[in-house]
Amino acid sequence: MTEDNSNRRLTRRNALRIAGAAGAASLAGCGGSDGGDGSSGDGSDGSGGDGTDGSSGDGSDGSTDSGTQYNTLEVAHWWGEGDGLEAIQSVMDAFKEQHPDIPFDENLIAGGAGENLQANIRTRVQNGNHPSTWQAWPGNNLLPFTDANLLKDIGDSVWSENSMEDAYLQGVKDAAQPAGNYVTVPLNIHRINNLFYNVEVVEDAGVDPTSLETPSDVVDALQTVDEAGYTGMAHQTGSPWSSFQMFATVLLGETDAETYSAIFVDGEVEANSDALESAVETTQSYLDYIPSDAGSISWTEANNQVINGEAAFLHQGDWAAGTYLTNDLTYGEEWDHVAFPGTEGYYALNMDSFPYPVNNPSPEATTLWCQFAGTTEAQEIFNPKKGSIPPRTDVNTEPFNDFSQDQISDFQDSEAQPPSVAHGLAAPPSVLSSLESAISSLNSGNEPSNVVSQMASAYQ
Ligand code: BGC
Repeated sequence: MTEDNSNRRLTRRNALRIAGAAGAASLAGCGGSDGGDGSSGDGSDGSGGDGTDGSSGDGSDGSTDSGTQYNTLEVAHWWGEGDGLEAIQSVMDAFKEQHPDIPFDENLIAGGAGENLQANIRTRVQNGNHPSTWQAWPGNNLLPFTDANLLKDIGDSVWSENSMEDAYLQGVKDAAQPAGNYVTVPLNIHRINNLFYNVEVVEDAGVDPTSLETPSDVVDALQTVDEAGYTGMAHQTGSPWSSFQMFATVLLGETDAETYSAIFVDGEVEANSDALESAVETTQSYLDYIPSDAGSISWTEANNQVINGEAAFLHQGDWAAGTYLTNDLTYGEEWDHVAFPGTEGYYALNMDSFPYPVNNPSPEATTLWCQFAGTTEAQEIFNPKKGSIPPRTDVNTEPFNDFSQDQISDFQDSEAQPPSVAHGLAAPPSVLSSLESAISSLNSGNEPSNVVSQMASAYQ
């Protein structure tokens, strides 16, 4: 059969909802069904569902699906900046090998640490020609899409396959069901509370990162490194997300997971204003030691300064480790890592996933892709190269590199896994862009009390 996508366009009303949205966040609350099919198991938009005629490759065992002529599977992602390109392309190669008869279109929209792809998806959803699936942070981040009935329930077609439900960690399963049913497939778990460093630089400066116990200890270390003639903290401020995740990590390090959650998940900003002001101050102290061109470089360009020995430290998610690993830098000798001071015992997390949009241009092929993303095979290929760890518990991690194994054991030992606020997992989508504005003002040196007031109004 040939996949039919003639009626698989977004309904006009849902498209207009997206059109009206300045960002995905503002889709929240715009839901309500006009015949959308986000809750049904078969893409029941009247267009034939998801290959439910029995002749499709859905639910296949991964062998070549002869007899089916597939529509092009377009998979969009933003991993072009050296922090995942090799990892995702290896997964794509393995998928293509299993399904040589599926026309495959890799669509790389790099830049802005995901912002460019996210904007592109909004426009394409609005125009009714979005890709088959795309890289997306799960959890709250997808609520605007589920509220508008734009994502399909893939509980039966994907999550019941390959023992996914048994093998995935509970927190990850929750993030894959932002509205109570499965709509996406997480491929990895990233850690946010890392402090990476160039071993030679810190040794030359006489700083021992393992001795740092609190976020303020980092300020002293940055000063020492600066006096030795290096850039202290490789960082970008052109867009707020890097300072946002840094600030959230400092807050976690100065308080605890309960306070973090009370603030970002429950919005108890005013009750915690002292802690928040302190975290703003500490973060602003770090900004005294960032590159002079931090406002115009990307995080990967900042990270290059750690790689080439101009800068000592980097606070980033462990996708940064992916860049060291794929550059063949030796872990423990050329680069190393400690849990961000004050956050030991926590595994602050972010994930990447591939959602299944309701009006799918290649329903069967997309189901097969989503199923593959949920397999041990795909996760064994992707995670060691990406710097992330697998969300399935039954992946054989023995062949993983030392860094990945260290992160896996930290994860297993962790007492809490606070979700990243900067990636839209913790805070409700409706408040995210206002929090980002508060962080932009933190970056510009606004008074801590003003920054915290802005955060409080984000939740009102
Ligand atoms: C991605 C990284 C990316 C980061 C940006 C993560 O989800 O895996 O590659 O740099 O988001 O915040």
